[in-house]
Amino acid sequence: MKFFIDTANLDQISEAQSLGILDGVTTNPSLMAKEGITGEKNIIDHYKKICSIVDGDVSAEVISTDFEGMIKEGETLAALHPQIVVKLPMIKDGIKACKYFSDKGIRTNVTLVFSSGQALLAAKAGATYVSPFLGRLDDISTDGLHLISEIRHIYNNYGFETEILAASIRHTMHVIDCAKIGADVMTGPLSSITGLLKHPLTDIGLAKFLEDYKKGN
Ligand code: G3P
Repeated sequence: MKFFIDTANLDQISEAQSLGILDGVTTNPSLMAKEGITGEKNIIDHYKKICSIVDGDVSAEVISTDFEGMIKEGETLAALHPQIVVKLPMIKDGIKACKYFSDKGIRTNVTLVFSSGQALLAAKAGATYVSPFLGRLDDISTDGLHLISEIRHIYNNYGFETEILAASIRHTMHVIDCAKIGADVMTGPLSSITGLLKHPLTDIGLAKFLEDYKKGN
């Protein structure tokens, strides 16, 4: 399972990278705005900074909603760095753009996916990643994990190579449940990764080991 961090915060990206288990970064316009990164030039510079911190894939989202606009933006983004994956919205022109990029060997992440039908279309269009939004479904009393598992089932049926990128992950149990289902990737906040470290018995056990070591010295 690949671990991506879902943020545009450079300190958090660096911290996750320093753990040695980070496989990539996902961003979106809201996450950029949260860090105060606005305007095309600043956003482009920020993507370059992110690519210099991590070794893996960095999803960069287009703002256009029409085919021509998405192609123009996506080509600019893809040319920034080999690690960039063009993130496209799950709308009709997004699917057309996904097929266009896939035919050209440019990697894509189809985002804002909330149904297995949408995920099927993304796979048919040759998406590298499909991003079902788990947490946002849970937010409206709909079973987000069920969607991940349905997509896994459908992709397995046909051997689709599109990777399931479980997005909108909110906490550690989402990560574990997605791993059980067989999602290829998870993307979430730093806390959803570092939270996996925690167990009180580990802390108690370590304290006892160190205490006993001191007794013997
Ligand atoms: O990767 C998708 C993500 O950015 C959405 O997460 O927490 O805003 O639903 P959230």
